[in-house]
Amino acid sequence: MQIYNFSPGPARLDPSIVSKSQEAVGNYQKTGLSILEIGHRSKDFEILINSLQENMINIFNIPSDYFTLLLQGGATYQNTFIANNFDKENKLLGCLVTGTWGRYSFEDFSKIRDSKIIELSQDEIENYVQTPWDLDDVDYLHLTSNETINGVQLRDFNKIQHDSLLIDMSSDIGSYSFEWDNLAYIYAGAQKNMGIPGVSICIGNEKYLSSEDNSRYLNLGQLVEKKSLLNTPPTFSIYVLKLVTDWMIEMGGIKYFEEKSIRQSSKLYEQLESYEDFLILPVSDYSRSRSNIIFKFTNEDLEKNFLIEATEKGILGLNGHRSEGGIRISLYNSITNEMIDYLSEFMDKFFTDNGK
Ligand SMILES: Cc1ncc(COP(=O)(O)O)c(C=O)c1O
Repeated sequence: MQIYNFSPGPARLDPSIVSKSQEAVGNYQKTGLSILEIGHRSKDFEILINSLQENMINIFNIPSDYFTLLLQGGATYQNTFIANNFDKENKLLGCLVTGTWGRYSFEDFSKIRDSKIIELSQDEIENYVQTPWDLDDVDYLHLTSNETINGVQLRDFNKIQHDSLLIDMSSDIGSYSFEWDNLAYIYAGAQKNMGIPGVSICIGNEKYLSSEDNSRYLNLGQLVEKKSLLNTPPTFSIYVLKLVTDWMIEMGGIKYFEEKSIRQSSKLYEQLESYEDFLILPVSDYSRSRSNIIFKFTNEDLEKNFLIEATEKGILGLNGHRSEGGIRISLYNSITNEMIDYLSEFMDKFFTDNGK
């Protein structure tokens, strides 16, 4: 049976990336070595990481005064990492919280340094972007551009009137374009849009490199100086990231993925709205995520049947996060139009069979 993988992450990879990875596990670029055996200080790895860096600059239009770091520990490590850097002793970290991951960040930050929570309901988000309040004392403002569990996305962060944003982009990096002007630092675990777990992409403005005297793996300055090679990096995850960036460029870059994401998410939201007698779509229009569509059935039995029948048809990964329940459709960069059509036809039949 053909599988249609809508998992929230680790997520579907384009099949070309899986097959190139398989080949490289066997014999990396005819070196006679597996990619799993390549040393991180070898010439081959140096070439790989340099061309990944070029790809990243190409895709994200990274300015020359921004550094790129590849780190381990996932996005969760970033809570500890960020809190210990960025002028830890002197500066207040504000946290704009729009969902679960932002709340976790705030909780972790506040165990380490002076932090302040700014919690917003979905309705407040739009106004917030236009007329921010209460940010005067906030030196850095952290936010999660896409709340993967709650389906809330804040794509307009460039309009926020604060010039030092720190952004967790774990679940929407690479799916729309943005400017760097008011961004101090962004980060994302690779396992949704950019590859597999094990590596986080971190990009920041060099002017925010403070001289904290942290131990090695917490030391932003040292890690940047050593160009991600302070210790042994996750070589295979970095290799897959390189393949994903090659593929993104080949497909047409961010512009292609942004258009695709608008098209695919609009189609599904429109269809889901037509089932309003059966469903609750909890996120209001402005902040609806294009990366994770969240909804709940009003009838729990019907929801269970929906998941069972979807699985029988090879549609996987639709169950909501264990903390929230409901349904979550994750629409990352690798999701094809054919997958959307298949899911859409499945839903059409399911709701017709159940009395729509
Ligand atoms: C937006 C966001 N932030 C942070 C995390 C945590 O990531 P990790 O498991 O890489 O630590 C996730 C995981 O799904 C996420 O979606």
